[in-house]
Amino acid sequence: EKAGYASFMLKEIAEQPKAVADTLLGRVDGSGTLSLDEVRIPPGVLREVDKVVVVACGTAFHAGLIAKYAIEHWTRIPCEVELASEFRYRDPILDQRTLVVAISQSGETMDTLMALRHAREQGARVLAICNTNGSTIPRESDAVLYTHAGPEVAVASTKAFLTQLVACYLVALYLGQVRGTKYGDEIGDVVRDLSGISGAVEQVLGTMEPVRELARSLAHKNTVLFLGRHVGHPVALEGALKLKELAYMHAEGFAAGELKHGPIALIEEDLPVVVVVPSPRGRSVLHDKIVSNIQEIRARGARTIVIAEEGDEAVAPYADHLVRVPATPTLLQPLVATVPLQVFACELATARGNEVDQPRNLAKSVTVE
Ligand code: M6R
Repeated sequence: EKAGYASFMLKEIAEQPKAVADTLLGRVDGSGTLSLDEVRIPPGVLREVDKVVVVACGTAFHAGLIAKYAIEHWTRIPCEVELASEFRYRDPILDQRTLVVAISQSGETMDTLMALRHAREQGARVLAICNTNGSTIPRESDAVLYTHAGPEVAVASTKAFLTQLVACYLVALYLGQVRGTKYGDEIGDVVRDLSGISGAVEQVLGTMEPVRELARSLAHKNTVLFLGRHVGHPVALEGALKLKELAYMHAEGFAAGELKHGPIALIEEDLPVVVVVPSPRGRSVLHDKIVSNIQEIRARGARTIVIAEEGDEAVAPYADHLVRVPATPTLLQPLVATVPLQVFACELATARGNEVDQPRNLAKSVTVE
């Protein structure tokens, strides 16, 4: 069943190029127009939407945090992202013009299910992004966009996450298409960029040996920090979550700009800090800011592990370890930048003797609140 891989997790990491291609399959035509027939919410209703609220847990929540950037950029509709377990307890403001997007690999997560039930009771429409056909969350939603990642067996979510991202981008672009926003012109370009992502992920997977070696060399450490800005921040959170659940290590993700507001006090000699660097093209302000963050932590002794796009030479002098990912538009970078963090956590956990497919205390789907 593991098709020759040592674990389901390794198999599922390797399946990601196909998984992301499958999420796109049949949803985009040659002219770059999206046809999401499954989204049975009438275009007229989608045109009236004045707020999008994403609810999810764990890794799916991180996909939601990234979705916010895409939804707000391409549609200009305000988007909130909330942990499903917190959502209904704060009496959220919802009505018929709210579109709730519930993201869940299993489709059985009780917190997410209760959040969407609450949203529907208030009159909101619910669109599920789900990987499991016929599961409860899609059955109770107004519409569903399946991610088509194939069964994910390992407790740690990998291919489901990447395909959730692709599905979120599709939803954002589709909303933009239906509403005719001024970013409508970008849709064709983004769709083309998305079509290239499968190859880019494949390329990343082919260059992971140094990451595995690095992970093994850090197996004795107690703490690893992760930093990112913009969509790199949720990527940092996801890298930290993978390390917690698999390696049972203290791992934390921060927005790099928050460093000076507290977390920089954690930096000490030889502390591994993974930094996700945005593209130097386009949003170069962000890039410059993170380069100075890397300098700041390195000056205080951190061991910097830098994930940066090919051709980004500005970061090289400050990287103790440099991991290259293919150049992508900023919003899509999580699709390539997350992969080394998955490999890193899986290898480090294995080096610590942990069972990666079945980490202690965790279940694949959490069907209790
Ligand atoms: O099935 P779901 O996507 O609703 O699951 C949500 C979380 O329980 C899940 O992503 C969890 O955080 C993973 N074990 C992370 O790798």
